[in-house]
Amino acid sequence: AIQGAMQKAIAAAPDSWMPGGTPDPLIREQHGHTGKPVSRIDGPLKVAGAAPFAAEFALEQMTYASVLFSTVARGRIATLDTVAAERAPGVVLVMTYHNAPRMKPMPLFMSTSKAGGGNDLPILQDPEIHWNGQPIAVVLAESQEQADYAKSLIAVTYERADAMTNFAAAKAAGTEPGEFQGEPLKLEIGDAEAALAAAAHRVDHVYRTPRHNHNPIELHAATVTWEGETLRVHDATQAVAHTAWSLAQIFGIDEKQVRVTSPFVGGGFGSKTLWEHQALAAAASKLAGRPVRIVLSREGVHRTIGGRAMTEQRVAIGAQADGTFDAIVHTGAITMSRHSATPEPFIVQTKSAYAAGAFKLDVEQAFIDMVANTFMRAPGEAVGTFGLESAIDELAVALDIDPIELRLKNEPAQDPTTGLPFSQRAVEQAFRDGAARFGWADRPKVPGSRREGDWLIGMGVATGTYPYYRMPGGAARITLDRNGHATVGIAAHEMGMGTATAHTQVTADRLGLSLDQVTFNYADTDLPGVVLAGGSQQTAAIGAAIVEAQRELFAELLTLAGNDSSLAGLKPHDVFGTRGGLAKLDEPDRYESYTSILSRAQREAVTVEATPPDPLELQHWSMHSHSAIFVEVRVNAVTGEVRVSRMLGSFDCGRILNPKTGASQFRGGMIMGLGLALTEETMFDERTGRIMNPSLAEYHVPVHLDVPAIEVMWTDIPDPRSPMGARGIGEIGITGVGAAVANAVYNATGKRIRELPITLDKLF
Ligand code: MOS
Repeated sequence: AIQGAMQKAIAAAPDSWMPGGTPDPLIREQHGHTGKPVSRIDGPLKVAGAAPFAAEFALEQMTYASVLFSTVARGRIATLDTVAAERAPGVVLVMTYHNAPRMKPMPLFMSTSKAGGGNDLPILQDPEIHWNGQPIAVVLAESQEQADYAKSLIAVTYERADAMTNFAAAKAAGTEPGEFQGEPLKLEIGDAEAALAAAAHRVDHVYRTPRHNHNPIELHAATVTWEGETLRVHDATQAVAHTAWSLAQIFGIDEKQVRVTSPFVGGGFGSKTLWEHQALAAAASKLAGRPVRIVLSREGVHRTIGGRAMTEQRVAIGAQADGTFDAIVHTGAITMSRHSATPEPFIVQTKSAYAAGAFKLDVEQAFIDMVANTFMRAPGEAVGTFGLESAIDELAVALDIDPIELRLKNEPAQDPTTGLPFSQRAVEQAFRDGAARFGWADRPKVPGSRREGDWLIGMGVATGTYPYYRMPGGAARITLDRNGHATVGIAAHEMGMGTATAHTQVTADRLGLSLDQVTFNYADTDLPGVVLAGGSQQTAAIGAAIVEAQRELFAELLTLAGNDSSLAGLKPHDVFGTRGGLAKLDEPDRYESYTSILSRAQREAVTVEATPPDPLELQHWSMHSHSAIFVEVRVNAVTGEVRVSRMLGSFDCGRILNPKTGASQFRGGMIMGLGLALTEETMFDERTGRIMNPSLAEYHVPVHLDVPAIEVMWTDIPDPRSPMGARGIGEIGITGVGAAVANAVYNATGKRIRELPITLDKLF
């Protein structure tokens, strides 16, 4: 039946990148805009302070929220005295489980196509405590300062219960198999342990990565008000439609009664979804009968917004003397909250990165009482590549083979675990081009052999990879008016990565318009589509919807053009948009402008809305973005301080739609990788389950002085199986960086660090 449905879908889409179809002919067209380094259209607004973020919407009668967090990991509230807080200056109300409106738990992310909640726990409905940091009270006041002060007057006592807050104890208590997006995080091909034991050469080590917390510069925030029975949310989110639907479930109202907009977002990285704070603000607003602005403190973000789970990964590779892999074992455990949708799937990249005779992959979950962990840029691959790509470097040392050559030796001809053909894969070119530009030939051949004063210098390399995804649910509306201006609407998101700019370019090209003839509207639940800015798939999801809407539009325009047009008799796939009108593909003189078509038809405008076909390409091809990451480090021989002095990312991600915003995506990802490699670590007190460094002063992300000049380059080979020829570029940048830094540290010092972050105490 699945095959039949697929064949039908294929037949319905003969002219597309879809299975059975031919690649979109426009992929290779040299248009005016796509592929050009167009500056972000939101840039001037941001520089001028004219781009409103979630906490910047001024509403009459606004109140300000401050959230109190539990200080124990398990148990129940014994006493909760809010009298002093209620009497404090400016306080409007204090909301606790005693007086909060009835709310259902958040629908857990991915439990349905529109569910967007970070956990599925009761929200302020009972005295039970599930993690250290859980919201237990909200103060509303006339100013933020008054709310924060009043919160300090609330007195709480707890009846404590035993909590599981220690990784080793949680593992000993028994683990459960992980699952990600409905797929088990377990895969065995052949007898990998036997092949490993029989292999001529092997490496077999355990790699550890710590917890990470999200730290987008814009704090999680929402401005919320009830307009009659309608809930209006100005949110900072990567998922407007998911958030609206989920809030409707929480309050038991119709989805159409919730409107969420999010025109600008100051970074998300997987964290800007639905958590307690939006629901708490809506509930408090209901109680007060006034609008509420909620801005989590940095501490609040650490306590209530999930982060990346801790991992402990065994990576073992068995190989022949020439480097051919006989077996890859990648197994281990992660910490996991019982109320989380997202285990850290650290084996994902290992499924498709290298050919091998046998595979054994497994992620086990060890359950801990902590804030629900969630997506954080390249969940899985960011830390999974640290294990895998460190192990490959260790094997290269053992075999005395150049680490790039060892990787290329095991470059798979087709997907090694599914057998599917790759849609496009130029890993070798990415390595060769990157090596030449970086000067890889100049790498010290003997670890610890290059020294300038107190500084030991080394180079390292790693492969980065992230899958291509395209989630169903995309839809786009295009309105084309008689002046030849197109307005695109889709409920997608701009978090600063250039979405609006890239899709203005794409739309202008597909319709044959200039950039100022296109308006791209987004991040509003009044617009069509259920689109997540996540999984590096938003560009493909939007692009597929725009392609489909453009086809509908051309069909509509050809109908309106009728028999009096030079386009008479042509089908949508016979024409293309050019010079503000339509022309026949191989006969561009057969042309009529949009203004002429609409004027003759006596129409002011034409509007179409379309939904793209389901992402069947994912069932027919193995599709992944790749990179070769090169790093040069300087390690102080006295103090052990590690400084990354050069980085280069050579990417193979299909067609790059905008080299300017694309380069920023790559660089930003690599900088986040630098934090992962050297500084980022959530200090979690395993006795109490409390996060001890919930501030940017103590949780260290890279600052300018930590970041060297970063070069980025790319193959720019269009993927014939993705809309616009593009694969994702949002998450790939962070992948591979941890291992490339660790491998460079080894090359500089001869010391192998198998636990992130690489702080100086681990070196000498
Ligand atoms: Mo990304 S972690 O899917 O926002």
